[in-house]
Amino acid sequence: MTKPLEGIKIIDFTHVQAGPACTQLLAWFGADVIKVERPGSGDVTRNQLRDIPDADALYFTMLNSNKKSLTLDTKKPEGKEVLEKLIRESDVLVENFGPGALDRMGFSWERLNELNPKMIVASVKGFSDGHHYDDLKVYENVAQCAGGAASTTGFWDGPPTISAAALGDSNTGMHLAIGILTALLGRDKTGKGQKVAVSMQDSVLNLCRVKLRDQQRLERVGYLEEYPQYPHGEFGDVVPRGGNAGGGGQPGWVLKCKGWETDSNAYIYFTIQGHAWEPICHAIGKIEWIDDPAYKTAEARQPHIFEIFNTIEVWLADKTKFEAVDILRKFDIPCAPVLTMKELANDPSLRASGTIVEVPHKKRGSYLTVGSPIKFSDMKPEVTASPLLGEHTDEVLTGLGYSKQEIFNLREVKAV
Ligand code: COA
Repeated sequence: MTKPLEGIKIIDFTHVQAGPACTQLLAWFGADVIKVERPGSGDVTRNQLRDIPDADALYFTMLNSNKKSLTLDTKKPEGKEVLEKLIRESDVLVENFGPGALDRMGFSWERLNELNPKMIVASVKGFSDGHHYDDLKVYENVAQCAGGAASTTGFWDGPPTISAAALGDSNTGMHLAIGILTALLGRDKTGKGQKVAVSMQDSVLNLCRVKLRDQQRLERVGYLEEYPQYPHGEFGDVVPRGGNAGGGGQPGWVLKCKGWETDSNAYIYFTIQGHAWEPICHAIGKIEWIDDPAYKTAEARQPHIFEIFNTIEVWLADKTKFEAVDILRKFDIPCAPVLTMKELANDPSLRASGTIVEVPHKKRGSYLTVGSPIKFSDMKPEVTASPLLGEHTDEVLTGLGYSKQEIFNLREVKAV
C-alpha cells in the first residue's frame, strides 16, 4: 500500500512530547522521519520514568514509533557537516528546542533557507515569536496555564486545574502537523519552502475558544446560564471554573452509578440535550416531568438542574455505568461511561480499529500505544517500534554517501 507521505524526508530534531507527537503522526502516514539525537544520551524521554531498567521508557517509545534514529553531535564541526548534507536533501526540518537553540547551533532560518530553499522549517515554542514571553522555556502545564485552560478548568471553589490531556504538548504537535502539510501543499504551487511556527500558548488557546466566547458573553450580559453558578451563585468579571458542566449549551454533569462508593470511576457523563428531554423522562421513569411547566423547557429546568441530576442519580444507583449507558443509548441520550485507562487499554473496539495497538520492541518486548486516531478508507497506518538510540546511524550516513572509513572517523571524534 502506498502511503500519501512516502518520499517526504523529515529531519526530526524534536524531543520530549510536542515535536515528537507531530513527527510520529507524519511517519505513520509514510514520511521518512529521521530523528537526530545527541550521541550517548538521545532524547531525554528515553530515560524518563523508566519501567524496565536499560530499556527505552514508554514515554519515548509511545511518541517515536515508525522513525529512524541518527546520533549526531550537531555542535561539532563534523556533525554540522553531516546535518548540512541531510538538510540539502530533506523536505522538512521539525524542531522544538528552547528559544534560540537552533540559531546558537548555527542553523538559523536564514541559513537553513540558504542551504535548501525548498525545505519547510517547522518549530514549536512555548510562546509565539515577538511575544513578551518568547524567551521562556515551556512544558505542558505551563502552556495550559498560559493558554487559558487552567483558569477555566476545575471547580469554582478550588484552584486553577491542569487537564490530564496533553493540550500543550501533543495538541501543539497536531497543530504543527497541519501547518507542515499545508506548507508542503503550498510548496507544490510555489516551489518554495517556508517557516511554520506554532506556539503552545496559541494551541491551548485555540482549544479554549469557547471560553473566550464565554468571556464576551459574560461581559455583555453579566451571567452564563449554562454554568453551575447560574442562577443562584455570583459571577465576577472573568469566566469562572464550571466543574463538569457542559460547554456547548446543553447542561450535563458527571453522575454517580452503582458502586461509586468503592470505585472512583463508577460514573457516567449525562447530557440533558433540549430535544432529548422527553426520552430522558421515559428512560428514568419520570413521565410526569414531560409536561410539567417546572421541567418542560430548558429555561424552566436550569434553576433546579442539580435537583434533576440528583433524581437521575437515584435512578442510576442500582445500575453500573455500562448498564446505564446500555439503557440510555436506546433513548438516544448523549452519554458515556467514565472509562479508565485500564478499560481503554483492553477495549476490543479500540483494538479492532487500531486506536490501541500492541507494538513489538527489540528490548522491551511488546508495549501498548495509541495508534492513529485518524482513519482513512485507503490506508491503515501501521505502527512500528520506536528506534533504539542510533539504530539507523550507519544506514542514514551511507545513504548520504559516507564510506565505512568516513563513518569510522566520525565515530572516532564522537560526532555520531
Ligand atoms: N547535538 C548537540 N547539541 C544538541 C543536540 C545534538 N544532537 N540536540 C540538542 N542539542 C542542544 C541544543 O543545541 C541546546 O543547546 P544550547 O542551549 O547550549 O544552545 C540544548 O541541547 C537543548 O536545549 P533545550 O531545547 O533548551 O533543552 P532543555 O532541556 O533545556 O529544555 C524544553 C527543554 C522542552 C523546556 C525546551 O526545549 C523548550 O522550551 N522547547 C520549546 C517548547 C516545547 O516544545 N516544550 C514542550 C516539550 S514537550
